[in-house]
Order: sequence, then structure tokens, then C-alpha cells
Amino acid sequence: MRSIQTVCEEHRALREVLDALELILRCQRADDRLDADLALEALEWLERFSDGLHQDREELGLFPALLLRAPDRTREVLASLLRWHADERARILEMRARIEGAAYGDACSRDAFTCAALEYIELQRRHSQVEDAQILPLAREVLLPEDDARILAEYQRIEQRHLRPGEPAPSERSRELVASAAHRVLERQASLLPARSRSLRPAPQPPSARA
Ligand SMILES: [Fe+2]
Ligand SMILES: [Fe+2]
Repeated sequence: MRSIQTVCEEHRALREVLDALELILRCQRADDRLDADLALEALEWLERFSDGLHQDREELGLFPALLLRAPDRTREVLASLLRWHADERARILEMRARIEGAAYGDACSRDAFTCAALEYIELQRRHSQVEDAQILPLAREVLLPEDDARILAEYQRIEQRHLRPGEPAPSERSRELVASAAHRVLERQASLLPARSRSLRPAPQPPSARA
């Protein structure tokens, strides 16, 4: 069902962005500097697509449909997932409050940002694992084609609120973000190497020379 597949694909994109954000955070340990531009890009993605679009899909589309079809099996777990959403939003607000100070090099803001971001990453990873392992299989089991159509119509209304006309899908933006995080981390690692070891690195050989 397309409504379930959409949530599943967004979990994959979300995990990629969490990996990228973790890479950005871990990388700052090498030279005590946060790449604030990239951290801000990751934060904006999470605000708009994870805690915005994705949570709305679940809270207004998928979860209510599940609650109607299997109230006894879902009531408790869905209530705990909603509390999880609220908790994640609180971490996002903390990150947003600290990012500007962190960008200006304030160590206290940077540490608070890092702490909130690491907690957020951990929460989101566990959260999407629970949904993938419990909620999506249950949805595949109990939802009917007419539920799928109704949920997709709700998704469309939600997308109109969260996406600008012609804006690429969140999963496309996540791939760009991951690529630039990996690229910038490699660049910074290279810049931290002593000049001598940088100059001693062998030049890549053409395939014919290696054969
Ligand atoms: Fe969720
Ligand atoms: Fe989710």
C-alpha cells in the first residue's frame, strides 16, 4: 500500500539524515569546531520533513486509520508514539535555540546543541525502528484498500501545507545533505592532517599503471 510505503521510505531518508548529523557532530571533536552551516541544514530538514511532514502523515493519516481498524491492538502503542513525537519536538526546539550561538562559536551553545542533537538522534532511531517493526507490519495486516485511498488523500492535504510547489521530495534532499556532509567531513579531515603527510600522499594511478 502506497500510504505505508511512503512512511517506510521517509524512515529510510530520516535515518540517512541522522547519520549525516551524527557525522557532523563527531567530526567537531577533531578540531573543536562545529560545521554550523551543515548542522543548520540538517536541523532544517528535520524540522520541516521529520517533525513536520512525516509526523503529520502519521498523526493525521496513518495512525487514526489504524486506530479505527484495530483499536485494541494499537491504542497503547500509538499513545506512546505520540508522546515520543512530542519529546522529539522538544529536542528540536532546544537545538533551534542553540544553533545561532553555536554558529558564532559560543562553546556553551555548541555543547548544548550537540547534547540535544545526540539525544534526538538516539530517540529518532529507536522510534523509527519501533514503527518499522510493529506499526507498519500491523498496518499491512489490517488496513484495506479504501483506507489506503483515504490516507493518501490526507497525505496530499498535508503535503500542500508542508511542501512548496515543485519542491523535491524530502528523500531527494536527504541524499544531497548526506553527500555534502560526507564531502565536508573528508575535506576537514584532510585539512587537519599535517602538511607533510598531505604532500606525501601518493597520486592516484591510472588503471593501466596498476595492472
Ligand atoms: Fe512517528
Ligand atoms: Fe515515523
